[in-house]
Amino acid sequence: MNSSILSVGAYVPPQIMTNQELPASLDTSDEWIRTRTGIEQRHVAGPEETTASVSIKASERALKAMALDPRELDWIMLCTDTPEMWSPATACFVQDALGAQYASAIDLTGGCAGFLQTLQIADKMAQAGETVLVIGTEVLTKSLDWTDRSTAVLFGDGSGAVVVGPSNEGIRIVHAKSQSDGSQADILGKPYGGTRNPITPELVADGHLHTIHMEGQKVFKRAVQDMGSMALQVMQDAQINAQDIDWVIPHQANQRIIDAVAHHAGIVKERVFSHVAKYANTGSASIVIALADMIRNGLVKPGQNLLTVAFGSGFSWGSQLWKVNQVPPAIFE
Ligand code: UT7
Repeated sequence: MNSSILSVGAYVPPQIMTNQELPASLDTSDEWIRTRTGIEQRHVAGPEETTASVSIKASERALKAMALDPRELDWIMLCTDTPEMWSPATACFVQDALGAQYASAIDLTGGCAGFLQTLQIADKMAQAGETVLVIGTEVLTKSLDWTDRSTAVLFGDGSGAVVVGPSNEGIRIVHAKSQSDGSQADILGKPYGGTRNPITPELVADGHLHTIHMEGQKVFKRAVQDMGSMALQVMQDAQINAQDIDWVIPHQANQRIIDAVAHHAGIVKERVFSHVAKYANTGSASIVIALADMIRNGLVKPGQNLLTVAFGSGFSWGSQLWKVNQVPPAIFE
């Protein structure tokens, strides 16, 4: 049995922060951010919003879009690098709020490639007959060092969810591949607060160490190289030419990275979706928010081949080829 994406839901917090509205202490400019990243604004969680609350909103939309009874869900798999709390899994809060009483709920962490890695696992489970809610979520703006201009300007908040099930009706996952290189773990991540660097009074007093740390140039280089190669590998494995790809849906990190990956994979710019200007980098949520936005704008059509590709901390990266048999219902207001 094949597995397919049967419905899509996405949610971004209503509050928008433009480049001009970033704190003056960052010593940055709209011009620098636009030219180096393409980002113009980001959605930012309000004080009352958390990873679970945005995930619940996206999940409710995915279920509502296809009128699925939450009791039909076998699994809730939530991918995030910014969980509700250390334990229990954020997915458990979602399970409770949805009333998915027969589902098993678990979190996975894979950086910005995490949604594709999680979907790759869910695909196998759906092929075996299970119905899986896969959620990619980040509330990154609560994990940033707002004195570090090299990271603070890049990220935004949001959540996306898909229902994956044993069916040919929807977007069929034709081929999926992902890989990791843990030797690069120190380049990008949130290294403090775990068992290697536990929470101490000094850590808390510093006020910066619990936030995201990134060596941007190193990430940039590997992101272009590994996303480009992985996209080519997936096309080769699936025996499909670049000319037959209708849309590339790349992780929305930086317009310069998106352009370079498309060039590397031999795909013309017009077939590469980007809305990084509006949403910035939403980590694990980025691919699924992009898919929801594309469906909302009528860009996804039956018969199309979609190639998606992502890269993030770990390093981990992945790519998938999707075939649109039917456009899945989507809610993204
Ligand atoms: O999703 C995966 C996670 N992350 C990514 O994909 C991000 C990958 N990396 C990038 O997108 C880019 O490396 C950045 C956007 C982070 C940085 O762009 P860059 O072109 O690589 O700039 P850079 O790091 O080489 O910095 C150039 C200059 C430096 O100043 P000096 O040393 O030349 O005086 C930085 O201090 O730009 C400065 N700079 C800034 N200036 C104004 C860095 N950030 C900013 C800023 N505003 N926000």
